[in-house]
Amino acid sequence: MGRLGTVDPNSYAEPDRVTTVHSSLKWIVDFDNTKLHGSVTHRFNLLESDLPAIILDVRDITIKDVVILSNNNSTPVNYFITDSVVDIGSKLTLELPEGTVKGELLVQINYETANTASGLLWLTPEQTLGKKHPYMFSQCQPIHARSLLPCQDTPAVKFTYDSSIEHPKELTTLMSALVLGRNEGISSFEQPIPIPAYLLAIAIGKLVTRPLGPNSNVWGEEDIIEEAAEEFSETLNMLKVATDICGPYVWTQYDLLVMPPSFPYGGMENPCLTFVTPTVIAGDKSLADVIAHELAHSWTGNLVTNRNFEHFWLNEGFTVFIETKIVGRMRGTKEKDFHMIRILTELRECIRTQLANKPELTKLVVDLSNCGPDDVFSVVPYVKGSIFLLYIEDLVGGPEVFEPFLLFYLQKYAYKSVVSDDFKSTLEEYFSKTDKQNNLKKIDWNLWLNQEGMPPIIPKFDETLANISKELALLWSSKKLIELENNETVKENISSHQLIDFLGRLIEYEDIVDLNEEKIDFLEYTYNLKNSKNSEVKFRFIRLCIRAKLMNRMDDIIAFANSNFRMKFCRPIYSDLVNWPEAKQIALMNFDSVKNQMMTLCSQTISKDLDLLVK
Ligand code: BES
Ligand code: ZN
Repeated sequence: MGRLGTVDPNSYAEPDRVTTVHSSLKWIVDFDNTKLHGSVTHRFNLLESDLPAIILDVRDITIKDVVILSNNNSTPVNYFITDSVVDIGSKLTLELPEGTVKGELLVQINYETANTASGLLWLTPEQTLGKKHPYMFSQCQPIHARSLLPCQDTPAVKFTYDSSIEHPKELTTLMSALVLGRNEGISSFEQPIPIPAYLLAIAIGKLVTRPLGPNSNVWGEEDIIEEAAEEFSETLNMLKVATDICGPYVWTQYDLLVMPPSFPYGGMENPCLTFVTPTVIAGDKSLADVIAHELAHSWTGNLVTNRNFEHFWLNEGFTVFIETKIVGRMRGTKEKDFHMIRILTELRECIRTQLANKPELTKLVVDLSNCGPDDVFSVVPYVKGSIFLLYIEDLVGGPEVFEPFLLFYLQKYAYKSVVSDDFKSTLEEYFSKTDKQNNLKKIDWNLWLNQEGMPPIIPKFDETLANISKELALLWSSKKLIELENNETVKENISSHQLIDFLGRLIEYEDIVDLNEEKIDFLEYTYNLKNSKNSEVKFRFIRLCIRAKLMNRMDDIIAFANSNFRMKFCRPIYSDLVNWPEAKQIALMNFDSVKNQMMTLCSQTISKDLDLLVK
């Protein structure tokens, strides 16, 4: 397919020639036909005169007409859609009149979305908790905004937006913006801070809300709202700690929306309104760190943004780095270091399985010339990126020295988009006249950014909390059942994080002695897994049941696979299942029966994983 654009391999837009300043959305939400009808009016800034055309990204969009608005005139614009690339999108060319001068230009596009829009999921009432009302939500990152509206769908471009949404009046509409007004089925919003297209977001459903603080509420369906308010009760503290590290919170509001279980990610940092999966509601706040992560994106990602998704680590690696600092300030160094140790376990597992045959995707900076960002998504930029930053932090003398630099970097690039070289040059510039500059020369940038595999250097972490998970994994993999039954270590009380890491490490062992029904039963009994509400614990336990090929566990396995469609969980479960000959048919049949309830990206990714797609 090749690179679509020079600035962004996955967008046809030409940000060197024209940028979007502001977009006005008018949508009518049509639940009967699962479509959005309406218009977008883009205020463009033409950077050169005599520009022949404005190029936008679209995917499965039907255009009704396009006009240039000026004074009281509207001039029709010639347009055509070409160069369709599977799973990526097409090029929309808007021809400009000859002699168009540089500067501002208002263009209105009337259009509708397809009922297959890749960035939207429409749920029937039966698919919601309340069962009475339909629901719709978006997921635009990385390149699905183009299925909601024709736009410059590249994070190299940032624009403000306002919107007016007509929807069934009994439902509530939320967007990644501030609310301007709500009345009789029309809701209006405004996002006064320029954002990349991937941060556009909308959700509509029968929603209620509880306050978490002065400028912070949690939203969700009635049946889950009390639990959610309790689970995320630390949000305000996290916001305070994040502000200490990163500077003022500029987005005014910080709300959470607890999504339906078909939300494909753990969380999504939509500005003013983080989307979060219900699978992190464990009942003991143990998985609420996802909020620290999404909150940290308010700076890294939403203020300082990767210019294209080859440099995704500038979003996610930085965000994990700050998320870890938040965890450290709230719960201390031991928890902080255990947090890093746990995500390293996840990285090893990812490299061992998901990326086993795709070593080039284990690089920190990836090549997206021939595929889309969804195809390369993994924990690599998260973990390798944050380890890289920790390594640099240690090199320059620790947090007291590095955190002021972090603030400098965030201020320098706020409201802008960056590539890895911007980070490198800013780091070198900042420390150039200090005694740290020689230390920085030790960084082998090429090694860190372009080498495959695990991070080249892993700092020493406090192992206090990890010792038990390591030891347990070794015990359970190497000892027979009767030996375990008489072992004192096995009976020790451990935290849910330790349980997660222990099970994650156990899965890594190629050989697990006597992996049979009795051992799995004893594991379940010892750690009270039957009653666990913790999805990360259940996920790892279910994978062990599959490893043990326990047919009598098939109902539990399928029940878990159908309880949520978060890709982190369902992709490995299906991949594991099809490698178990007796389970393969059951898995494929189940997948077939539920795939319509998944987001297109989720069902397509699983299909690709399972090699079902005709290539
Ligand atoms: N921005 C991501 C989610 C995302 C990434 C969506 C790429 C689409 C494309 C979000 O901030 C994230 O990283 N979520 C994590 C949770 C986090 C605690 C690591 C997830 O979904 O697992
Ligand atoms: Zn993230």
